[in-house]
Amino acid sequence: MAWKDSYDIGVEKIDCQHRQLLAKLNEFFEACSNQQGKEKIEETLKFLKEYTIEHFSNEEQLMEEINFPELAEHRQTHADFVKAVLELEETVKTKGVSVLSTIKLNRTLTDWLINHINKCDKLIGQCMATRDKAI
Ligand SMILES: [Fe+2]
Repeated sequence: MAWKDSYDIGVEKIDCQHRQLLAKLNEFFEACSNQQGKEKIEETLKFLKEYTIEHFSNEEQLMEEINFPELAEHRQTHADFVKAVLELEETVKTKGVSVLSTIKLNRTLTDWLINHINKCDKLIGQCMATRDKAI
């Protein structure tokens, strides 16, 4: 999946982090299609754990600054994503890497790209644009 300029929300820091995430996800998807998802899953989960701490707090701080109306829902979606990552990590730790865990992560990430970054995060950019116009 390639980054499109239309995914940009117009805040360099956030857009850079989104691009970085997409690059990492593509690495994982590529590994999955080469039957190497099992080898890659632990690395990807470790990356996601660290990445989400900084990225989500940056995004939430921005939403607070602009009085984003759906901040609470958005924050909840972030928390759900972190929970899914942690649960998967726990499963991998206790039961070992399986094809099922690889498929699960693949689905979670695909859903995140399609429904979160491309829709929910775009709303932040739209909110900022409307706000800028009003000033
Ligand atoms: Fe977000």
